[in-house]
Amino acid sequence: MLEAMRTAPLGDDVYGEDPTVNKLEELAAKKMGKEAALLTTSGTQANLVSVLSQTKRGEEVILEAEAHMYYYEAGAFSAFGGLIPRLVKGQFGILTPQEIESNLRPPNIHFPPTSLVCIENTHNRAGGTIWTPSETKAVYDFAHRRGLKVHMDGARIFNAAIAQGIDVTELTKYADSLMFCLSKGLSAPVGSLAVGDREFIDRARRYRKMLGGGMRQAGVIAAAGIIAIEKMVGRLKDDHANAQFLAKGLASIQGIEINPARVQTNIVVYDVSGLGTNGNKWVEKLLESRVKAGALEDNRIRMVTHRGIEREDIEYALDVAEKTATDIRNR
Ligand SMILES: Cc1ncc(COP(=O)(O)O)c(C=O)c1O
Repeated sequence: MLEAMRTAPLGDDVYGEDPTVNKLEELAAKKMGKEAALLTTSGTQANLVSVLSQTKRGEEVILEAEAHMYYYEAGAFSAFGGLIPRLVKGQFGILTPQEIESNLRPPNIHFPPTSLVCIENTHNRAGGTIWTPSETKAVYDFAHRRGLKVHMDGARIFNAAIAQGIDVTELTKYADSLMFCLSKGLSAPVGSLAVGDREFIDRARRYRKMLGGGMRQAGVIAAAGIIAIEKMVGRLKDDHANAQFLAKGLASIQGIEINPARVQTNIVVYDVSGLGTNGNKWVEKLLESRVKAGALEDNRIRMVTHRGIEREDIEYALDVAEKTATDIRNR
């Protein structure tokens, strides 16, 4: 990637003149089975320009209750788009048409009109869980029957495709717009793409400019992104195997609660309340031995497998977790 970045042909992308950015955007659109794509600085920016492009101020957006877009994106679409989130609790991050329907309000002067449903595949806070094509289709068909658009936060959409052994378009065809990240498992240093039809991308490009995301000679970033898409998708299965290995090892530690069958991709979420400790203390203890984890809330811990984390590293992490759990229990 660094070599590709060093030698990439460059131009001014704000004028559409960076050949490497253009190549990446064409490649991304083709991969996703859509007309066009737009390189953004981050997943957060791609989600934001997408939602702004799909809605009008004062409208309501439906999201799963633990959606990244609601939880971790600093309230961006409400702050910049004047949009109102309506949260619908799903099962493991997945929504059904019935769950959405029971939260849809009829047209009425008292209610903000609903215009967009956002779905997240894989679902981060639910532990990297997967939407299947049929689950996605069900929500997409329902949304369209009600005149709603669907935006897919597909930060890790290739993980969802690889885990199901399907082409990514089997999932993306049920979204009007989507975003995916070149960073994360695809291992590029920076960048995400918003993807959809040409008119959508034209609107998104203008919003990206407003947000300061016109990046001039952005080919240096795009060059790594091209490699991410062309060469790094296949490696995601190794992350999934490592996550499974981690989950099974954690499940065998007394006081840790996790169902490895629920670990579908590269995110491992488990509960440490059985150890009588709390999440932050557990994370601190692991870090003393250079094992990084994050506390989702009081007792839930999140760990992620990615490039550079090999089987031996997981073995080491499990060893540290086992010793830490034993120390806590013997306190
Ligand atoms: C599901 C999901 N959506 C969006 C994002 C945002 O991506 P970024 O960190 O590039 O802004 C993340 C980041 O972790 C994510 O997990």
